[in-house]
Amino acid sequence: MGFGVDVGGSGIKGAVVDLRTGEFVGERIKIATPKPATPQAVADTVAQIVRAHDWHGPVGITLPSVIRQQVATTAANIDPSWVGTQVHDLFAEALGREELAVLNDADAAGVAEVAFGEPQAREGAVIFLTFGTGIGSAMLVDGTLFPNTELGHLLLDGKEAEHLASSAAKDREDLSYKKWAKRVDAVLHEYARLLNPTAFVVGGGISRKADKWVPLLTVDVPVIPAKLRNRAGIVGAAMAAHTHLAP
Ligand code: BGC
Repeated sequence: MGFGVDVGGSGIKGAVVDLRTGEFVGERIKIATPKPATPQAVADTVAQIVRAHDWHGPVGITLPSVIRQQVATTAANIDPSWVGTQVHDLFAEALGREELAVLNDADAAGVAEVAFGEPQAREGAVIFLTFGTGIGSAMLVDGTLFPNTELGHLLLDGKEAEHLASSAAKDREDLSYKKWAKRVDAVLHEYARLLNPTAFVVGGGISRKADKWVPLLTVDVPVIPAKLRNRAGIVGAAMAAHTHLAP
């Protein structure tokens, strides 16, 4: 068993995970993300979720930030005060334990999809993308992660991919699936041109409606809807905590 917590813009969610199957054991607890979502306020909420499960083992935590040597170095869609935060120390103090792993949210979700998702995601050079407030990315070769890629910030005609084609952009600009899919397609063409993956795996809430937009894409690389959906971040976080601690 492991424990994962996924820190998102609107909710912080945690659950006990069966690491052999990628399934939750018992319920998932969700608490609204505090506002402002400062490091201390988020750490206190994470601690509340872990306590509510009465979990005393290792904990994996995702953040929508680049995490290098357990320091958050970017804050595109979270409170700017995260930049420079020593996240291991922050959560170790809040949770009263050292057995922790903190990693980027899309990296966690990508690792989980590769382990428990569609078979086509397990082999080859896979680009996993989450479409939400931003565009998160995880790049994996035969399941091994190249961490902290930030493909959502690639510039297309001077504009960041995530500002054009996140699902938040679709909502903000009230775009039809057809119009939005055209933007996603342009972004995927650019990723394919530069990185030549064997497959894209697309996640985030909007992957639930994949039938409305994936068939409209023209990119010459298979686009596979993610299978774990909103479970992926929690499962990947739990896996990371476990692997980091493995002898
Ligand atoms: C952040 C990434 C994150 C993604 C999804 C982007 O804006 O820069 O680190 O993975 O949003 O939350």
